[in-house]
Amino acid sequence: MLLEIPELFTSAEAAQIRSLLEQANWRDGKSTAGELSAQVKQNAQLPQDDPLAVELGNRILERLGQNAVFMSAALPRRILPPMFNRYTGGQSFGFHVDNAVRHIPGQPERLRTDLSMTVFFAEPETYDGGELVVRDTYGDHEVKLPAGSAVLYPGTSLHEVRPVTRGVRLASFFWIQSLLRADSHRSLLFEMDVAIQRLAREQPNHPSVLELTNVYHNLVRQWAEI
Ligand code: NI
Repeated sequence: MLLEIPELFTSAEAAQIRSLLEQANWRDGKSTAGELSAQVKQNAQLPQDDPLAVELGNRILERLGQNAVFMSAALPRRILPPMFNRYTGGQSFGFHVDNAVRHIPGQPERLRTDLSMTVFFAEPETYDGGELVVRDTYGDHEVKLPAGSAVLYPGTSLHEVRPVTRGVRLASFFWIQSLLRADSHRSLLFEMDVAIQRLAREQPNHPSVLELTNVYHNLVRQWAEI
C-alpha cells in the first residue's frame, strides 16, 4: 500500500521548517549508505545528532501521533528518529533497497523497516525532477507532493529519487516498524477501519458498527507482534 498523507504540516509550517533546513549543517549522504547504495546515492544529509534534525524530527513524530490516517495505516510499533536530506544540482538516488533492520540511535534495540516515509518540505514547483519512484508489482509510482505532505510506502519496495535538475528538494525520511509485519495485513485492516469509520458516521446506531469493530480488533490480536 502506498498512501499519501496530505498536510501533515500546513504550507506555512512547512515554509518555516524549510527556512531552517536551508541554513542547516548538511553533510555528504554517502556516509550513511551501505556499499551497494553508496554507488547510486548522491545527496546531502543532516547528521542524526544535529540539534536541528532532533528538534524537527520530534515535531514530525508528534504530528504523526495525532494523525488518524497515519496511525490507522501504519499501526506503528516504533519509529526511527526522522532524518533529513537535500538534493540539488543534478543529484539523485538511483534504485536501491533499504536495510531490513536498523539500529535505533542510542538504544540497544533494533527496528525492522516495515514502512518507509518521506515528508516533503520544498514546494514542487520550485524544483524539477526529484520524484520519489516506488516500484511494486503494479509498476512504478511517482510521488512528488506539496510541502508539508507525506507518503507512506512498504519498506519492501525498490525505490529511487530522480535527479533534481533545478532548485532544491528538501525532505525528511525515516522508517517504521509496524505491529503487523505483512503489508497485506496492514492494507486489509486499513480498508476495514476506513469502512467502519464511514459506517459509524453515517449510521451511528447500526449494530454492525460494534460487530465490525470487534472483528477489526480480533484481527489485530491475531496478527500483531508486540
Ligand atoms: Ni531508500
